[in-house]
Amino acid sequence: MRDTKRPYVICHMMPSIDGRIVTRDWELKNASREYERTAATFEADAWIIGRISMEPYAGKARLPARKSREPIPREDFIAAHEASSYAIAIDPSGKLRWKASDIDGEHVITILTEGVSDDYLAFLQGKGVSYLFGGKSRIALAKVLPKLRAHFGIRKLLLEGGGKINGSFLAANLIDELSILVAPIADGSIGTPSLFDVADRRAQARNLKLLSVEKRSDGIVWLRYNVR
Ligand SMILES: NC(=O)c1ccc[n+]([C@@H]2O[C@H](COP(=O)([O-])OP(=O)(O)OC[C@H]3O[C@@H](n4cnc5c(N)ncnc54)[C@H](OP(=O)(O)O)[C@@H]3O)[C@@H](O)[C@H]2O)c1
Repeated sequence: MRDTKRPYVICHMMPSIDGRIVTRDWELKNASREYERTAATFEADAWIIGRISMEPYAGKARLPARKSREPIPREDFIAAHEASSYAIAIDPSGKLRWKASDIDGEHVITILTEGVSDDYLAFLQGKGVSYLFGGKSRIALAKVLPKLRAHFGIRKLLLEGGGKINGSFLAANLIDELSILVAPIADGSIGTPSLFDVADRRAQARNLKLLSVEKRSDGIVWLRYNVR
């Protein structure tokens, strides 16, 4: 039985035929358009990605030193916003330097650990970026997901990489569905991120149930699975 207190999670990714996901050197004309077009069909309320994947979208704002020495309590902060869709980052130590509180109109939420500095929390509040605490020193995804639903009404969430965050969701058994656009690329680069990179070797391999197979433009194949 699915836990309805948390959002339904669809992992949407475009790997090469050998499961690699760093697209930088791939020569594929319409890949990102196909990726976004397919993502839009899910009508999700939010997308979530790891700190490394979020870096190009977040920006490089300066982190000002705070004048006040008043400690900031480790309490979730919901910034004022009018958006009804959300861009979410997992950034345990507060490395992302947000230049704005939205990405293309989607309100930014960042998931932190309690170890981040007060200066960083003041920076986020000043920028109007919402933040949730996911744990003291490690992020417990199973505790974060119900908060996304309770505080922001997020019912359907697209998990969009990279490999580490996907691997953490897989290991925590928090993926309901996989949406994989297999790119017609044999990548072959040893040691680069792949679809699921799970640090914990004890994490079980998951069986998948094939839902559909569809040929898309430019030799891309769209595979959908339920995660059992
Ligand atoms: N082809 C595609 O569809 C696709 C889609 C998305 C991304 N990508 C590519 O994937 C690459 C990045 O993948 P990646 O695996 O290196 O990085 P990633 O998953 O984007 O980010 C990993 C980082 O996020 C934080 N993080 C993720 N899961 C966490 C957890 N459970 N608990 C605590 N922190 C967590 C950690 O940040 P700290 O290091 O700060 O602790 C970790 O180092 C990029 O090249 C990107 O372009 C490809």
